[in-house]
Amino acid sequence: MSKYTVAVYPGDGIGIEVTREAVKLLCAIERLYGKEMFNLTEFDWGTVYWERTGSVVPNDYLNTLRQFDAVYLGALGNPAKIPDHISLKPLIEIRQSFDQYVCLRPATLLPGLSTPLAGKKPLDIDMMVVRENSEGEYAGVGGVLKCDTPDEIATEVSIHTRKGIERILRYGFELAAKRKKRLAMATKSNVIKFGMVLWDRVLSSVAPDYPDVQAEKCHIDALAMNFVRFPERYDVVVASNLFGDILSDIAGTVSGGLGLAPSANINPERKHPSLFEPVHGSAPDIAGRGVANPVAAIRSAAMMLDFLGEPQAAELVNSAVAACLEDGLVKTPDLGGTSTTQEMGDDIARRLLAS
Ligand code: IPM
Ligand code: MG
Repeated sequence: MSKYTVAVYPGDGIGIEVTREAVKLLCAIERLYGKEMFNLTEFDWGTVYWERTGSVVPNDYLNTLRQFDAVYLGALGNPAKIPDHISLKPLIEIRQSFDQYVCLRPATLLPGLSTPLAGKKPLDIDMMVVRENSEGEYAGVGGVLKCDTPDEIATEVSIHTRKGIERILRYGFELAAKRKKRLAMATKSNVIKFGMVLWDRVLSSVAPDYPDVQAEKCHIDALAMNFVRFPERYDVVVASNLFGDILSDIAGTVSGGLGLAPSANINPERKHPSLFEPVHGSAPDIAGRGVANPVAAIRSAAMMLDFLGEPQAAELVNSAVAACLEDGLVKTPDLGGTSTTQEMGDDIARRLLAS
């Protein structure tokens, strides 16, 4: 009998190509374990569905997804055909409706990879960006007045709640306690006087509960600079929704590129399904050419395995990825190679099956 039900939502662009490789690794895990573990249901939502129906998802798609143990997403966005605010809406809606308030974005410079930073060695960079994923700058509160006139006004209200800040900080502290015991929180309380001052105050009230973790706050501009200058200083970094979005792109880039960066959008209480997706987007410029790096997608599948309760399987997938990267024989053009998406996925699957 199948154990885990997973909704597979490849989406658009390279999302479709890299999801195929992530699914390949799930199937390889089943072969290795000699049992059926996943019941995968694929949805053609995104451009394909939009061409057929005029919407990117069906009206009741949240109820459909709710029944699954997890959602696996490739990438959304096809700006040549669909405005981004329409094609990306389901992603934000899923994160908020399913209260996936933790977005985990690990960034590790693994052996075999190169970084654009001078003088950094493998494993110098090993951090986890913990992004608040349910409110903040992405709350979607605001409006437009006097649309399309010279007097047009737009408001975009950030919502920062004490409950929302406290729960993400506690998650970050608990994670830091299991890692290198360092936590940095992004702020900008020198200018953003209400929301970010609340973040600072909640940090001061929560930090004493975790005496073993060394906590600091850092203004987002300085933190962005430090991610480039001294990434080795960072272990767990907690940030609001937008700050976390930006920091995770920097963290991914300095640790080898966004083609490698996975993410997990988690509802820790497991009241709703969690969603796993690569940090990168649909990359329309290279879509359909079979050259996208499948590693971010495969590592996102590993994060899903871990969350579903299969940490050993997750570890095996991550080890197969690490071995592929370290050997460097099969790599996609973003890593300086000439291999295709499929060849890299095959190489990782082969290594997994040999483990
Ligand atoms: C990400 C992406 C999304 C975000 C976009 C595609 C809406 O950049 O997951 O980091 O801003 O959250
Ligand atoms: Mg982003």
